[in-house]
Amino acid sequence: MLKKVVNISKIYTWETSKNSLEVKKNHEILIKNDKIIKISKKIDDFTNDTIDAKQCIVTPGFIDSHTHPIFFGNRSDEFHKRLNGFSYEKIKKTGGGILSSIKKLRRASFEELYLNSLKNIKPFIKYGTTTLEAKSGYGLTLEDEIKSLEVIKKINNELELDILPTFLGAHAVPQELKTSEYVEKICNDMIPEIAEKKLAIFCDVFCEDGYFNIDESRKILNTAKSYGLIPRVHADEFKYFGASELAVEVSAISADHLMVINEDGIRALSNSNTVATLLPGTTFFLNKDKYANGRKLIDGGCSVALATDFNPGTCTIRSMPNIIFLAMQNCGMSLAESFLAVTYNAAKSLNISHMSGLINEGYNADILIWDLEDLKEIPYWYDSADTKIFKVIKNGNEVN
Ligand code: NIG
Ligand code: FE
Repeated sequence: MLKKVVNISKIYTWETSKNSLEVKKNHEILIKNDKIIKISKKIDDFTNDTIDAKQCIVTPGFIDSHTHPIFFGNRSDEFHKRLNGFSYEKIKKTGGGILSSIKKLRRASFEELYLNSLKNIKPFIKYGTTTLEAKSGYGLTLEDEIKSLEVIKKINNELELDILPTFLGAHAVPQELKTSEYVEKICNDMIPEIAEKKLAIFCDVFCEDGYFNIDESRKILNTAKSYGLIPRVHADEFKYFGASELAVEVSAISADHLMVINEDGIRALSNSNTVATLLPGTTFFLNKDKYANGRKLIDGGCSVALATDFNPGTCTIRSMPNIIFLAMQNCGMSLAESFLAVTYNAAKSLNISHMSGLINEGYNADILIWDLEDLKEIPYWYDSADTKIFKVIKNGNEVN
């Protein structure tokens, strides 16, 4: 099946050989099945299937490389508590936070969790996200983590969006166990069974004071690696204790958050293949004043990606244009750097940069057609992407 996209004013993509933003004016795109097979000024191949871009601009579909969308119910009460002086850390100490989502998810049936999670995930598409990483992590028993990962699998099969699953059993310590007992359970029972069932590609750990320390995180991530899961780490979010260095030590594909990373952490990341993923939506939603310093990370030589961190506790933003806006306004990142961070670098952090994140021949036909004249309008219309995206094309099909 051939399909052409014609009448495009500008195609924006990252030129990896020059490490710069590339703008192709008045080019056409030829798609065969789910892949881009040609990009040129005039495509002569015949097809009846033509999309008229109406002189709009085109970008790759966004890749959201960090989300927690498999949950039941909501935690709006915590937003109001924070306004009354309770911090995220204090809410945790009073039995709220991640543990309150655990109670809700454990009570939900597979069907209930599926329907709720589908409602969480579907709207990502209208904001231009065509690939999503999704974590488990609100079950914390083998049964409930498998239930969460099976829900991801079902939604991935049903929605056009590609969803890459991450096992985040190490999101918090469940109340019924000591940390050491739970770490044993993760390593001896959960990782082997989840790997055997092929329910996850990645394994993540919340490496943070009060959650999992460096030694516990190292043990979990090295076990995950030995079962073929790729490590990623929630690192340096609230308190610095060397989580980014650990991410590099275990060859994690990504270290995420980095609000409190220091020079040592930046040096470690810049000398590695570990992508630094920033989640400014979380800083905004928690009303914190210290955003991750994207400028310093990029100047220090790190590859920086941006993601939403969509979850019930610390960020309900699904829109990547919104995240670009926050990164440019608060993390010191330029438009080109933010564009790279939500496309090619996000693809790198998910091990899919050979097929996703660029408008290139041979790449997935994941394409956004915007009713805009210039890329710089994307952050400007930060919360209106759903009205500014004319077409979302995923794997060659129009999906919005
Ligand atoms: O990335 N930091 C850990 N996990 C989430 C928050 C999860 C929650 O509060 O439910 C995050 O911010
Ligand atoms: Fe997170």
